Amino acid sequence: MSRATLDKDPRDVASMFDAVARRYDITNTVLSLGQDRSWRRAMRAALGIGPGDRVLDLAAGTAVSTVELAKSGAWCVAADFSVGMLRAGAARPVSKVAADATKLPFGDDVFDAVTISFGLRNVVDHPEGLREMARVTRPGGRLVVCEFSTPVVPVFSTVYKEYLMQMLPRVARAVSSNPEAYVYLAESIRAWPDQPTLARQIRDAGWSQVRWRNLTGGIVALHSAVKP
Ligand SMILES: C[S@@+](CC[C@H](N)C(=O)[O-])C[C@H]1O[C@@H](n2cnc3c(N)ncnc32)[C@H](O)[C@@H]1O
Repeated sequence: MSRATLDKDPRDVASMFDAVARRYDITNTVLSLGQDRSWRRAMRAALGIGPGDRVLDLAAGTAVSTVELAKSGAWCVAADFSVGMLRAGAARPVSKVAADATKLPFGDDVFDAVTISFGLRNVVDHPEGLREMARVTRPGGRLVVCEFSTPVVPVFSTVYKEYLMQMLPRVARAVSSNPEAYVYLAESIRAWPDQPTLARQIRDAGWSQVRWRNLTGGIVALHSAVKP
């Protein structure tokens, strides 16, 4: 069994995702009670892309997020450092590239928009990932980060924490090809910065006009920004 710890050694993270790749899509849909599809649609709408745009979907995994983006008519490339995840999405009709989010194999200012969904939390040095995303985006280009966040309704927040720590690992044992990885998932969600803190980190990485919108009561937040 393979699982990363919160120290997040990049090799552990990549091999953990290699190990969940085979059943990643179905496990996601089950664990999110089917919400993942609407979160992805909201992410595409927030990015405001269309035909003629060049879009980087970073930490794209099986490219399930990239095909949602491609529905806009934009040209989209999926990048991830888990070759196992990219391979599991081989049938998805989008370009794919093996790449580390902290050392992107692209020139400066080449994308109209960049996005990362449920991936930034796993990037070992995520401020560096945010700076790299700014580097490859053209001035005026857009960023959307779609990530688990902090629920904003107190009662709901308690129920959600229970779900994360008690139910999620149990459901994962029934569905996933590597249930241990979902213990890491629950822990990493709890350790992740809340909405205002992440907004500050995005600003510090060189982005402007940073704002966010909560989805499903703050279980997920969409942070958006513009490259100055
Ligand atoms: C939870 S999956 C998200 C996949 C997809 N974006 C989605 O919405 O379903 C997180 C992905 O982040 C990738 N990842 C983590 N750290 C990375 C890094 N430094 N560079 C590239 N990919 C990374 C993992 O390999 C994994 O495929």
